[in-house]
Amino acid sequence: MWKCASCGCSREEKPTSCPECGLVQAGLWTDQKYEILNDYCHPLSHIMRNQGIKHYFIDACAGSGVIQDQSDIIDGSPLIMAKTPEYVQNKIKNKTKEPSVECIFIEINTKTYSHLCKSLDKYRNFVQTTNADANSILISTLDKLQSAFTFVYIDPFGLGDPVIKYETIKHVLERRFTELFLHFSWEGVSRTAGLLSNIDHHDQTLQKQARSAIATLNLFMGGDIWQEIWRRKMEPSVKRKSILDLYLNGLKTYYDFPTPIEIPLNSRDPDFYLVFTTRNETGNKIMNDIVNRKRRKGSAKMEDFFK
Ligand SMILES: C[S@@+](CC[C@H](N)C(=O)[O-])C[C@H]1O[C@@H](n2cnc3c(N)ncnc32)[C@H](O)[C@@H]1O
Repeated sequence: MWKCASCGCSREEKPTSCPECGLVQAGLWTDQKYEILNDYCHPLSHIMRNQGIKHYFIDACAGSGVIQDQSDIIDGSPLIMAKTPEYVQNKIKNKTKEPSVECIFIEINTKTYSHLCKSLDKYRNFVQTTNADANSILISTLDKLQSAFTFVYIDPFGLGDPVIKYETIKHVLERRFTELFLHFSWEGVSRTAGLLSNIDHHDQTLQKQARSAIATLNLFMGGDIWQEIWRRKMEPSVKRKSILDLYLNGLKTYYDFPTPIEIPLNSRDPDFYLVFTTRNETGNKIMNDIVNRKRRKGSAKMEDFFK
């Protein structure tokens, strides 16, 4: 039995966010995701402040600010980002350097958004929030920031609701001085792709559902080429790699080396990937160091336990 740590409502199964109050629930490997995010935002912001460079952290699918993990309430990605200046203030040698980070958080779900606003009360002097679909607001938000450096984090549930369109990602990547950190949900992709076999189903309801889901996945993948790969007979791991590569190849038009990070780290059968893209050599090095250090520390090879 699951119980919401905020409003106290309960359900048989744990939802992705509380159906009553919108509090986001921790998913698989949330801890690894947050560790990487935290370990990257800290040095990035430290370097930027040292050099007096104005920069923005944007969480385009921000969630509730805090999230529920088991029965505890812990910081979600917006709070991890909003607490970065505290960390930098403690670390930086020249404390007279002006803080140079601002945060922008976008969240579509109205109930979840109200948690988000509450959790960020203390940080209002450098944090903005918007209750909207990231597809409709992210690009105009970036345009307003002109040539400022931005780190954009996109972590919807599955493909997003509304789906995070490939078109949106493309526009983000067209912008200079922009880094992207994106949750690519293999679970979301493969669950939806599995409905391809129903698009000509004799049951009209199933057929309609399948066609709508496939149209959504086309928007996510930026076309329908994935369908040809999905139909091919191949090992599931080869299929997963081929579809991920298709997604990454599109990103390569804008960035040379989009880096997929398998989560859980070291897994040969990851649940999802965090895709990191930057044009900045230092950014690339910091992220590679973080991930390689964590891989070496031997983050769970869970499937090995079940052999
Ligand atoms: C995994 S949760 C939040 C994760 C959050 N970044 C964190 O780690 O704390 C994903 C959130 O994205 C929101 N979302 C999904 N699609 C969206 C969209 N198109 N625009 C804005 N928010 C969206 C959902 O409502 C949900 O609150």
